[in-house]
Amino acid sequence: MPSTRSRLLPLVTFAATATFAAACSTAATTPSVAPQAAAAPAAPAPPARPAEATPAAIAEGDSLYASGSCTRCHGAKGIGTARGPSLVTGPWLQHRGSYAEIVTTITNGVPRAAIKDTTHRFPMNARGGPMNLTDPQVKSMAAYVWSISREKR
Ligand code: HEC
Repeated sequence: MPSTRSRLLPLVTFAATATFAAACSTAATTPSVAPQAAAAPAAPAPPARPAEATPAAIAEGDSLYASGSCTRCHGAKGIGTARGPSLVTGPWLQHRGSYAEIVTTITNGVPRAAIKDTTHRFPMNARGGPMNLTDPQVKSMAAYVWSISREKR
């Protein structure tokens, strides 16, 4: 990588000089700054895992999902049925798929008038209908749905 090094050299030299000058002007601390840190470009942030989507929350959501009413319309493991869309593949219909949006959809359900694909004939009840999910359960369910829906768009 000689060409990269030679292109970076003036910047590194400048950074080192500036650091040295700053250290002198405060006349105290040791100038122990790594020059290459100044030249490294910021990497783009990876898609953030929501803080709430802990492995424990996802595991709890998984067992709630598997034992509850969701499978009747969204299928085992969220693969979808004629009554509800896949939560694993395909386009989002109600929102863009953020954790917060998933929490809202599970909390409020999807009333008939809000159904986008009208081949889905039955509305989705709030809080899983008879499951009557508590707020913490809704959040665990949303963490699970978030975790299985990373391929959706
Ligand atoms: C009676 C069938 C039914 C049940 C039961 C049901 N849903 Fe739904 N769900 C739907 C329908 C219908 C939609 C909206 C699809 C559309 O707009 O065409 C939907 C939408 C969603 C969405 C948004 C999907 C998107 O593409 O935007 C999520 C997330 C979701 N449901 C999760 C759940 C969870 C979790 C449960 C269990 C607590 C559940 N659903 C139970 C029918 C159901």
